[in-house]
Amino acid sequence: MNQSVTRVLCVDDEPLNLSLLEAMLSPRGYDVVMAENGPEALEKIRTEAIDICLLDVMLPGMDGFEVCRRIKSDTEKDTVPVIMITALADMKNRIRGIEAGAEDFITKPFNASEVLARIKMLLHVKTLNDRLNSAYQNIARLSAFGEQIIRNFDPVDFVFLEKIDSIVHQIIRKKSGFADSPQIVVIGMADQAECQWLRYDCVGTDSKRSPMTMNLGNTSAFAAAGSQVMTFHNEADVHMAAVELVAECNKNDITVTNMVRYATDSFCIIALNYDREVTTYDATVLSSVVMQSLFLRSLALQVKDTESAFEYTVFALARASEANDEDTGDHILRVGNYCGLLARQLNMTDKFIMGIRIQAALHDVGKIHIAPAILKKTGKLTDDEWREMKMHTLHGSKIIGGHHRMSMADRIALSHHERYDGSGYPHGLTGRQIPIEGRIMNLADQYDALRNARCYKPAFDHDTTCRIIIEGDGRTLPHHFDPEVLTAFKDIQTRFADVFETSNSS
Ligand SMILES: [Fe+2]
Ligand SMILES: [Fe+2]
Repeated sequence: MNQSVTRVLCVDDEPLNLSLLEAMLSPRGYDVVMAENGPEALEKIRTEAIDICLLDVMLPGMDGFEVCRRIKSDTEKDTVPVIMITALADMKNRIRGIEAGAEDFITKPFNASEVLARIKMLLHVKTLNDRLNSAYQNIARLSAFGEQIIRNFDPVDFVFLEKIDSIVHQIIRKKSGFADSPQIVVIGMADQAECQWLRYDCVGTDSKRSPMTMNLGNTSAFAAAGSQVMTFHNEADVHMAAVELVAECNKNDITVTNMVRYATDSFCIIALNYDREVTTYDATVLSSVVMQSLFLRSLALQVKDTESAFEYTVFALARASEANDEDTGDHILRVGNYCGLLARQLNMTDKFIMGIRIQAALHDVGKIHIAPAILKKTGKLTDDEWREMKMHTLHGSKIIGGHHRMSMADRIALSHHERYDGSGYPHGLTGRQIPIEGRIMNLADQYDALRNARCYKPAFDHDTTCRIIIEGDGRTLPHHFDPEVLTAFKDIQTRFADVFETSNSS
C-alpha cells in the first residue's frame, strides 16, 4: 500500500449494491473502484493498485469463486485480500469461498460497521504481510550482496569507500522502485580529529556521492567510543530527538522526514527520508550491511599488516645473508624490481608479480653458508672453491624450506644460476625445465651484476650492459637466457636503467 488512500474494488452485478458500498466507504476516505462482472474485476485488479476486494459470489458468467481463484493464483496479486459477499449464509458456499482462497465473508444485507471492521482488520493484516515481504526481499537482496562482497574480498585491493559506495547503491531509493528505501544517505568517517562527511542522492537508477559539511561534534553524530548505536526516528520525533543532526541537514538543503542511523566511534551512516514509517528492522538491515564492511576493513588492515611484516622478515633475512657478499642491500631491492618489470611484461598475474618482487630478495640466502674467504676473494676461485660457491643455490633452498608461501623463493634460490642452454648450475637444467621465476631472476641478476663493479670487472653503463646481455661478450651469452624473457628485457630495458639510477641516487 504505497498510495496514501486505500483503494477498494467492489464487484457486484447489481448497481444498487455497488452504490450502497460506495455510500458506505467513500465518506470514510476509501477510494472505491467498481466492477460489474468477473473479467472487469480481474482487469482492474491487474491494472489499478487495488488494496482490497469485496467480491459478490453471484455474478453472471464467471462467478465470484472463479474470480477469487484467479486472483489468488496470480503471484503478483495474490496478496490482495478478498472478502466474499453472499446472500446465502450457508456453510456450503463458505467452504467453496475458503477453497477459492477468500480471506473473509460478509452477508447481504450489509451491516456498515461489520463491513468496515472487516476491511480494517484485513488491511492491517495486509500491511503486516507487505512489510514482511519487503523485509524478506531486502534481506535476500542484501545477503546476496554480502555474499558477493565476501566472495570478491581481496584484502590487498580493499578500498573501504568503494565498498560503502556499493552498499549505499544497494539501499538507496531507485527511480525504478524500492519506495521502501531511503532517499538520501549521509556518511561520516572520523579519523582522529578529522571527520569527513559525504552525501549520496539517488539520481535515476544510480546514486551520486558528493562531499558535504556537517558541523557536528563526535558526540552527536557518533557513538560513545567503543559502543555501537542504532536509532530510528519518524517524522513526529525526529526533530526532537536529533536536533543538531536535523539542523545540519537543513543547512545542506535536506528536509528530514525520518531517519535511521547506525554509528560506531569512527563511522556513522544516516539513511534519510524513507517513503513510509521507519522501524527497528530498517536499523538492523543498515547495521548488518555496514558491520560487514567494517569487519572486512578491519580484516584487510590486519592482512596488510601481516603482509608487511612478512616482507620485512624476508628482507631482513636477505640482508643478513649478504653480510659477506660483494652485493649491497640495494641489490636485493633492485633485482626484485627488475623481476617485477619482466614479469609484468610477460603478462604474469598480479599475484606472481607481487610474489617475485618480494621473494627474489632471497635468491642468494644460501651464501650464509659460504666461507667469507671465498665470498670476498678477489682472485680467481680454485675448482674446490667454485664447487663450494655453487652450493649456495642448494643451501638457499634448504634454508627457505617447504612452506607454501615461500615456494617461489625456494624455486628462485635453487634455479637462478641455471641457464636456458643447460650450461648453468646446480642441475644443468635446460629451457622450460627451469622454473619461470628462475629464468626471470637469472636475467635480472645478470643485469645488476654487470652494472656493478666486481673483483674481476669494472661497473658497466646501461648501454654496455644491454649490449652484453643481448649480443654477448664471450662470458655472458644471449642463449643463456630464455628467449621470451630476453625479448621482454629488450622491450623495457630503459626501465631497468630507471630502477638502477633511482636506487643509486637514493
Ligand atoms: Fe646467486
Ligand atoms: Fe644476486
